[in-house]
Amino acid sequence: MSDQVLVFEMAPRDGLQNEERIIPTEDKIALVDALSRSGLGKIETASFVSPKWVPQMADGAEVMTGITRRAGVAYTALTPNMKGLERALAAGADEVAVFGAASETFSQRNINCSIAESFQRFRPVVDRAVAEGAPVRGYVSCVTDCPYEGAVVPEAVAEVAKALLDMGCYEVSLGDTIGKGVPETVSAMLGAVLSRVPAEQVAGHFHDTGGRARDNIIAALALGIRTFDTSAGGIGGCPYAPGAQGNVATEAVVGLLAAEGFETGIDPDALGEAARFARSLKAG
Ligand code: HMG
Ligand code: MG
Repeated sequence: MSDQVLVFEMAPRDGLQNEERIIPTEDKIALVDALSRSGLGKIETASFVSPKWVPQMADGAEVMTGITRRAGVAYTALTPNMKGLERALAAGADEVAVFGAASETFSQRNINCSIAESFQRFRPVVDRAVAEGAPVRGYVSCVTDCPYEGAVVPEAVAEVAKALLDMGCYEVSLGDTIGKGVPETVSAMLGAVLSRVPAEQVAGHFHDTGGRARDNIIAALALGIRTFDTSAGGIGGCPYAPGAQGNVATEAVVGLLAAEGFETGIDPDALGEAARFARSLKAG
């Protein structure tokens, strides 16, 4: 099994999307640039969702075109529908992502459609992105627990994950959206998913509301998962998941992975600087 782990940075998107104060575009750009100096290979830079739904992300195009691009870094974006994809491609996103859920109520609250309708909506988005040369990631939210429905059955997650990969996504990122997962529920969920899809196409996306994200990463590593989504400074949360905290902090995960003998290629000092800047934005 590989000892390389890909750390996928979320702070500019998942980190900032829930912030009530409107953060100046130049600060968002400075955050992405600081993160790119640390050796991170993938940075979720913007979100091309409806500005009525998430006003904080309305300046995605300005952020995406304002950053200083570093060779070898993929700058990625959320694209919930064709309009979002067109905006993301025009702004130069290297990679895009569709996002669904394993819970019907969360799907309705977050993207205003059922799970089945979301597949109909995503399919042409994935086809078009792939035709334009942009790889597509698929997110599944509420992989252990839903803020509206409670515990989520592992098989529901496996169904959605398989459907997203069959559609043409290169990877599925499994989101513990509200950070309620524990190693037992995460392992049970991964057991169901990994019986349908290979570990190389699965990423872990753990929010740290319950303080168990690091334990969940260790459980996922043991099952062969080698990509994790994290947020510098631990900033963030989802506007449609009440009470949810940020993704587990990038700097904590990089430290944990080094201690466990995994390579990430990330410079902890440069990352520390970016994390301090991320936290300062959150504090206002
Ligand atoms: P809707 O209201 O059903 O969409 O929302 P619509 O097609 O009827 O459009 C409504 C209006 O929005 C129209 O404008 C559209 O043009 C506009 P109007 O005609 O009224 O002036 N619009 C757009 N504008 C710009 N870009 C677009 C776009 N789409 C429509 N892409 C929609 C459906 C999906 C758009 C909406 O529900 C939405 O934007 N939802 C996104 C919510 C969101 O961003 N949530 C947070 C990200 S997901 C997350 O954090 C979880 C994750 O981290 C994993 C985890 O932790 O679990 C990924
Ligand atoms: Mg998230």
